[in-house]
Amino acid sequence: MTTRDHRQQLSLLVKQLTWEADGVLSVLLVDPDGKPLPPWQPGAHVDVTLGNGLVRQYSLCSDPDDRCAYRVAVLREQDSRGGSVYVHDRLRPGDTVTVAEPLNNFEVRSAEKYLFIAGGIGITPLLPMVRATAESGADWRLLYGGRRRASMAFLDELNRYGSRVDVVAEDERGMLDLDSWLTEPTSGMLVYCCGPEGLITAVEQRCEAWPTGTLQVERFSPKPQPVPDADAERGFEVVCRRSGITVQVPPTCTIMETLRAAGIDVPSSCEEGICGTCETAVIDGVPDHRDSILSDAERAENTTMMICVGRSLSDRLVLDR
Ligand code: FES
Repeated sequence: MTTRDHRQQLSLLVKQLTWEADGVLSVLLVDPDGKPLPPWQPGAHVDVTLGNGLVRQYSLCSDPDDRCAYRVAVLREQDSRGGSVYVHDRLRPGDTVTVAEPLNNFEVRSAEKYLFIAGGIGITPLLPMVRATAESGADWRLLYGGRRRASMAFLDELNRYGSRVDVVAEDERGMLDLDSWLTEPTSGMLVYCCGPEGLITAVEQRCEAWPTGTLQVERFSPKPQPVPDADAERGFEVVCRRSGITVQVPPTCTIMETLRAAGIDVPSSCEEGICGTCETAVIDGVPDHRDSILSDAERAENTTMMICVGRSLSDRLVLDR
């Protein structure tokens, strides 16, 4: 995978590895000289370049007020593509990894009330959100589902919140009862959800008719998209306003690939539409959004797009590149 992320790249030391649950290892990263790390807000993730060259996005699950360390937690995936196995089997205290400064596609907006819904390792971005919300005095609840208690990370840290947190282990109580929590929209409430695709899809379905912007989700893998019919893909023109370059994007190439071939430097990391590194402002034209980040409302605004996967519905797109 080509990785050309223009964010500040930090060389950080693995200070500590901790088992947070069965199959979940947290990694504490610090600056080798003890310098404070760049600031971040709840919901942010970092892109970590592992020793095997793989780049993976991990949500920060430490305290943003603690500038001395970043903590991420990694689930050992059954069908790992190499990242989680590397972290579990090869990464050790004292190793150095490259970390791009934090990026936040999952910011907490101000609201009177919050419902946080986590499935398994999806607790990671929600943990700092819960902490900040609890400190703010807003009303909130966390629904946290997992297979077994032993596989659910950070239960100790969540204990302090008492009945605001509903821990639902599948082997004790079955699946999360989304129907009773998401019966109808509550005025002034925002819903934040992170977890496996099945949970996110189920929450999205229940909130489909709710006011725009009520639900915010974060995916760890690309949202299933209709498989584009290769013969139906069409080419289009892209005008890069800042560079003064116009290119023709063929049906077989992405906008990112075409711009790079024309000599335009485009930062990227995941190249799957999940990290936000390649986000580009749209000046004119109608994008065909295929990312897993933008909400329906953001898509409808057509003011920004992820050019690693997005294409165009109009014959011409004008981008701020
Ligand atoms: Fe990650 Fe485009 S490079 S969204």
